Amino acid sequence: MSQTATLEVNGNKYEFPIIKGSEQELAIDIKALRGATGGVTTIDPGYKNTGSCQSAITFLNGEEGILRYRGYSIEDLAEKADFLEVAYALIFGDLPTKEQLEKFNNDIKAEAHVDEDVKRILDGFPKSAHPMGVLSSLTSALIAFNPSSVNVDSEEDMYQAIVKIMAKFPVLTAWAHRKRMGMPLDYGDDSLGYVENFLKMMFKKPNQEYKKNDIIINAIDKLLILHADHEQNCSTSTVRIVGSSHAGLFASISAGISALWGPLHGGANQAVIEMLEAIKEDGGDTKKYMGKAKDKADPFRLMGFGHRVYKNFDPRAKIIKVAADEVLGDLGIVDPVLDIAKGLEQEALLDQYFVDRKLYPNVDFYSGIIYRALGIPTEMFTPMFALGRLPGWIAQWREMRLRKEPIGRPRQIYIGETFREFKNLNDR
Ligand code: SDX
Repeated sequence: MSQTATLEVNGNKYEFPIIKGSEQELAIDIKALRGATGGVTTIDPGYKNTGSCQSAITFLNGEEGILRYRGYSIEDLAEKADFLEVAYALIFGDLPTKEQLEKFNNDIKAEAHVDEDVKRILDGFPKSAHPMGVLSSLTSALIAFNPSSVNVDSEEDMYQAIVKIMAKFPVLTAWAHRKRMGMPLDYGDDSLGYVENFLKMMFKKPNQEYKKNDIIINAIDKLLILHADHEQNCSTSTVRIVGSSHAGLFASISAGISALWGPLHGGANQAVIEMLEAIKEDGGDTKKYMGKAKDKADPFRLMGFGHRVYKNFDPRAKIIKVAADEVLGDLGIVDPVLDIAKGLEQEALLDQYFVDRKLYPNVDFYSGIIYRALGIPTEMFTPMFALGRLPGWIAQWREMRLRKEPIGRPRQIYIGETFREFKNLNDR
């Protein structure tokens, strides 16, 4: 197989190296393109065909529906690991030993407090503020309380910043929820596990004992694992490009939260439930909504369907769909929108429009149904996605900085006005 690609521009031929990844993926390395061709660049809106980096963290095969974190299959991790183990593997490169996991857990517990002054910032938000906006702001505000930027050349400094954000993010997420609910903030309990403590901070009523529910703890732990990383998605690319200017870890993650909020990305889990509710209100007429999704004149899209990379079933959607049946069954909940979702999926899988475009359910299609069954309000679905994606963002930021990647600064093709003389105000 040729190790180079040949490009011909204006009658001149140029050769560029082809690089091959550990899973035999090929990419044309065009680092030298502009210099070699006297200014010719490439253009690829949405970067559908363009790799931004080489990474050792997560592998996706969209055609076959494969997802692996650090070489471990998502199916194995979701079934056999817990969220902190997976977070450790994503960030530091492999599953932790018992000692490493215990230290990671204890170091996170030691940092699981948030400066009381952060409450004053939280108080400034109206109850109606969307928790993703609150979370992005509070995460950015953490910089003010932890001003020293991460010295990436110091393993210890990097580790301390990582455990800080892993510890404080669940507190901020729970506080954003309690603010909306008009509930007093809860400080957690470091005798509890990571996920159990988060759920206590979210739901414990001030006048009641906190009662743990293993079904809910296990379901949330699995959902966080399934959301933990997904290579160079929109929000992760945001974290990497903000971090490439050597902005700090907390600032980069704050930017990632804002990118995830969009309904085409992490905001889709909230949009799916709103769509399913609308269909239910509309008498369950899924055919009408399938028609809207296919009508180019209608901006409506079937939320939770389609994916930039997966042109087969999103493996996470398969796992979440099974978990939805299990969790609702275990909790004795009958949610009509689950049946509507399954009906939509069946129709779409047989519909030529969706088949031709390889549109399958993605991670967001069923996740909201479980969150809702677990008592999580719709506006908190995307913050839950962010809580799961946090270790992935950290891992990708750390890899980008340790590999000393250059500042991200894409080129463009200018299509505006060519030179024109200035006109004085009276002459315009
Ligand atoms: C996530 O990147 C990641 O890995 C993201 C993520 C992660 O873990 O980080 O997996 C999480 O963001 C999942 C995606 C959640 N978003 C949604 O569910 C929103 C609905 N889906 C779409 O908007 C869309 O499918 C995207 C945004 C997910 C992907 O869009 P692309 O890759 O840019 O594809 P496209 O918009 O060019 O669509 C190709 C065709 C178009 O039709 P034609 O112009 O070819 O006729 O498919 C159509 C689109 O109109 N299409 C849809 C559709 N998704 C694509 N038509 C109806 N309903 C849809 N959902």
